[in-house]
Amino acid sequence: SVSTPPSVAFLNGQFSAENVIKKVTRSGDLRGVFHDGDSWQAISPETPIYEVEMLRSPQGEGELYAGVTHLQPGRVGDEFYMTRGHFHQRREQGEVYFGLKGAGLLLLQDEKGDARLERVSPGSVHIIPGFSAHRLINTGNEILSALAVWPSIAGHDYASLTQGFALRVVERGGKVQVREVQNG
Ligand code: 6PG
Ligand code: NI
Repeated sequence: SVSTPPSVAFLNGQFSAENVIKKVTRSGDLRGVFHDGDSWQAISPETPIYEVEMLRSPQGEGELYAGVTHLQPGRVGDEFYMTRGHFHQRREQGEVYFGLKGAGLLLLQDEKGDARLERVSPGSVHIIPGFSAHRLINTGNEILSALAVWPSIAGHDYASLTQGFALRVVERGGKVQVREVQNG
């Protein structure tokens, strides 16, 4: 028999499925994430920064999740809106990101703290290797939407990034500037 699976609109990352899992992350959830704490305080904690929509899928070894992150455009002080970023709890598990809409960067960092950036644009394909922390950054003027596929067992480890990422992406004179951070 033939069934119709959920679909994702490549133009904006909207899922057709109705019972997707949704998680909104607001400014108030991102304490300590942006380098300019005063500017962060000045924003309403209710300000939505990003939303993740996930398809329901089976749990367990070998199973996969598919989800779309919609990251708002904007800045906290000079720093572009970004996701919190994480290692997977199961560190060896990788992930694939696909740029759908908008313009931004994927920040990748290994366990030694070496960081690099990949440009995210509609159609871009990003292989996130195991043992790599990852964060999306919206450097554009519209919502940045990216589709991700990852193992359901991967989990999230946010705590191991207390030192933060080694790179910050800021706006300087209308341009995107990448800054190296001393000790995270
Ligand atoms: C994952 C994916 C992705 C990610 C979101 C939000 O492993 O679940 O990388 O869905 O969770 O982009 O980012 P944070 O989890 O870092 O807030
Ligand atoms: Ni992940």
